[in-house]
Amino acid sequence: MRTLDLALIGFGGVNRALAKAIGTRPERFADHGLELRVVAITDLALGTLQAVDGIDLGRVLALPRGATFAEFPGGSATADSESVIRNGTAEVIVEATFTNPLDGEPALSHLRWAIASGKHVVTTNKGPIALHGAELTELALGHGVELRFEGTVMSGTPVLRFAREQLVGLEVLGVQGILNGTSNYVLGRREAGLTLEEAVAEAQSLGYAEADPTADIGGSDARLKVAILANEVLGAKLTPDQVVTVGIDAVSEDDLASAAREGRHWKLIGSAHREDDGRIVAEVRPRALAADHPLASISGATNAVTFLTDMLGPVTVSGPGAGRDETAYALIADILSIHATTAGLVRV
Ligand SMILES: NC(=O)c1ccc[n+]([C@@H]2O[C@H](COP(=O)([O-])OP(=O)(O)OC[C@H]3O[C@@H](n4cnc5c(N)ncnc54)[C@H](OP(=O)(O)O)[C@@H]3O)[C@@H](O)[C@H]2O)c1
Repeated sequence: MRTLDLALIGFGGVNRALAKAIGTRPERFADHGLELRVVAITDLALGTLQAVDGIDLGRVLALPRGATFAEFPGGSATADSESVIRNGTAEVIVEATFTNPLDGEPALSHLRWAIASGKHVVTTNKGPIALHGAELTELALGHGVELRFEGTVMSGTPVLRFAREQLVGLEVLGVQGILNGTSNYVLGRREAGLTLEEAVAEAQSLGYAEADPTADIGGSDARLKVAILANEVLGAKLTPDQVVTVGIDAVSEDDLASAAREGRHWKLIGSAHREDDGRIVAEVRPRALAADHPLASISGATNAVTFLTDMLGPVTVSGPGAGRDETAYALIADILSIHATTAGLVRV
């Protein structure tokens, strides 16, 4: 049995769900010859806790609101991600702080520090990967460490790994996806007769939409995911600002009515394809899809990606695109993949 030591950077919804999964279902990992041990957690609100023999995750998860790690032996109320990453004993850094779409920080620094310190990295953070994915991948290669970010697109639903592992030998000509559950839910409710404001309020009451839904409605959340998909699957070198982005607020009542007459469904589609001259063109735009389009029937908060391939035609993967447990699963899959790769079991 191999013991793999983890440091959790950020202890919000996703890393808590990971800690719960590690603490409550160790057999999930033991089946793969692996014991996961969390040796450090650092978080702005909670502070920093390190224990080389492993942190008691049950006790950490039971901390009452407002408490900090200062009440643990050796714990402190101050976050110190740099020291945990650079000087700690973890072999794998699990980065799950907030997504910053402008410059990727502080996660970008977290990833650079980890790689430069010779540590493997898993992250669900779209910001640094969409903005600096190529640089980070190169850096990881140079330092002989693994970098995985499955959860940045469609949470735990395997999309990046699916393309890499299951579409080998095929040419992927393009990708099209419903990459934001909130906007898909809102468009569906607008088709049912609600106004944009009513549909957004309903999505917020159900916990799908943030208090500030701008990134969902305006398409900037999907834009980050399209940049990651285009770069990973099509080998593009796009930054998010090169992805032309139109949000679902551009869809009018008239647009909805005429689509309904034609049996079409409005969806916010993130897409990327290769032009004849080899350039990759990517965009996020509402489109009225014919009923037989593979993405037309994706409803509610579900996400989906269709890979347009030369020998199979369209291949579609659908599943949850958000959620704490769902996104924590992406981290689990990435950690197991790193275990397999570094143990020489299989190259993935
Ligand atoms: N939840 C999902 O469904 C989902 C899906 C896909 C991807 N993701 C991505 O996964 C990441 C984590 O999501 P989440 O839902 O867990 O977010 P969250 O609940 O907001 O957690 C982020 C945590 O990171 C902490 N943090 C921020 N800056 C830090 C720093 N410099 N050092 C240490 N800790 C820091 C925050 O502390 P404070 O709260 O005190 O600021 C917070 O506890 C985000 O990038 C998100 O976009 C989430």
